[in-house]
Amino acid sequence: AAVVKHTFHVGNYTVKPLCKEQVVVAVNKKLPGPTIRVHEGDTLVVDVYNDSPYNITIHWHGIFQLLSGWADGPSYVTQCPIRPGSKYTYKFNITGQEGTLWWHAHFSVLRATVYGALIIRPRSSMPYPFPKPYREVPILLGEWWDANVMDVEREALESGGAPNISDAFTINGKPGRLYPCSKDTFKMKVVHGKTYLLRIINAALNNQLFFKVAGHNLTVVAADAAYTYPYPTDVVVVAPGQTTDVLLIADQPPASYYMAAHPYISAPIAPFDNTTTVGILQYESSASSAKPIMPVLPAFTDTPTAHKFYSNLTGLARSRGYKPIPHRVDERMFITFGFGLDQCAPGANCGAPGNARFTANMNNVSFQFPSRLSLLEAHFRGAANGIFTEDFPDNPPVEYDYTNATVAAAFVASEKGTRLKKLAYNATVEIVLQNTAVITTENHPIHLHGFNFFVLAQGFGNFDRAREEQKFNMVNPQERNTIAVPVGGWAVIRFKANNPGVWIMHCHLDVHLPWGLATAFKVENGPTPSSSLPPPPSDLPVC
Ligand code: C2O
Repeated sequence: AAVVKHTFHVGNYTVKPLCKEQVVVAVNKKLPGPTIRVHEGDTLVVDVYNDSPYNITIHWHGIFQLLSGWADGPSYVTQCPIRPGSKYTYKFNITGQEGTLWWHAHFSVLRATVYGALIIRPRSSMPYPFPKPYREVPILLGEWWDANVMDVEREALESGGAPNISDAFTINGKPGRLYPCSKDTFKMKVVHGKTYLLRIINAALNNQLFFKVAGHNLTVVAADAAYTYPYPTDVVVVAPGQTTDVLLIADQPPASYYMAAHPYISAPIAPFDNTTTVGILQYESSASSAKPIMPVLPAFTDTPTAHKFYSNLTGLARSRGYKPIPHRVDERMFITFGFGLDQCAPGANCGAPGNARFTANMNNVSFQFPSRLSLLEAHFRGAANGIFTEDFPDNPPVEYDYTNATVAAAFVASEKGTRLKKLAYNATVEIVLQNTAVITTENHPIHLHGFNFFVLAQGFGNFDRAREEQKFNMVNPQERNTIAVPVGGWAVIRFKANNPGVWIMHCHLDVHLPWGLATAFKVENGPTPSSSLPPPPSDLPVC
């Protein structure tokens, strides 16, 4: 195992992907930022220098951070932000996971431009559980605003409405030639007959995305850095936070083919960015001047196609790292995602119905970040008083017809709070994640830090345990860190709390986090030093 070192300089960077120059915050003047490549078992050390005008933290999305919670990165959860002009070193081991993950800023909305791929290959000499690809290609799907994203978020939070829609989607930072002024299109050359591994990452802020390559079938082999049973498909749907690894065989007549992505919109109630980003798959033997062939993407609202893809993935139960599914459950939770309306300041012109401001919640608790001390530090120092409480409810306060809009509309009351759920070391937790029709039904991508979970089942309507429990997949469920909970539906996840620390679980639609669609788990230490959270590194930023 090796020690892999990187230096990140986070700073202003001027780019012009569309018609207008824009100053963005980026790492090492790259968009996307540097790709990190490690092998399972390695130690990663990243020195992060904040040369930007904003506070920043970096989150290593999907990394287990076993006993290294101080390196997880969500601001005010596991650390205070790195101030402008300061530095913090993230150091952690990468064990028990292989595949595609990514890293991104976890302060405010800065992840729009502060992100990159984190690729974990098997330990030396270990093969992939699929044919060895000729080349591996990261495909980072992003979202671009021709504006300062900090302003976009501030305006949304101040006005209390949804953020302005984006101006483009991007493939590896490039919008592609279907947009006005965009001459920069991602291009990948292929050799006829060879197999390619595309490591697809959805780094977009507010949109799930359909992805296709014209003329080519794809075989999914991993999702969220967990191997899947090979799943053939012509379309991939990927939610913000998720990754999907697919094999592509270059077996078509040599020509030029577009790869393309556009949104999957589960709740078409508001305006959305309906544009399409493209990249080019170019056979080496063909003339590059020929017009590429365009794939036909599913309709924006094609929930059946999205659901079929998401729910048909299964885990590769015979692969390395696939853990047995814990059968005995210690903690059962039922978590609803609701929205609320806050009264707006007098005179303010707020964007939500009734001159109000949107809030979001889990079990009617709208999550508030502390500002004096991070949750992890408060927990470690036994100083929770005034920072958090341990009374996050296991169930919503009232049972109702969650997915029935008229009934659900009555349940907008929510309380603000920093209420954590306490878990014993190694407890097995099962959570029913239930979308509701409060304000609208939509598909929320829910991300859990610190763990992968098994997806035992998912479906539409209100979850009914008596009917669904015997259908749980206890044989080869997919393992993920982010689950797109079906619109007007539910998903059941299960994980073992084998990692002491504080771990946030939140919606990865960017603006839903400041609205409060989150909670956090406090996992207690195990019986020995090797199952206990070590003290923080000496350079941990203070608030
Ligand atoms: Cu990728 Cu807490 O997020």
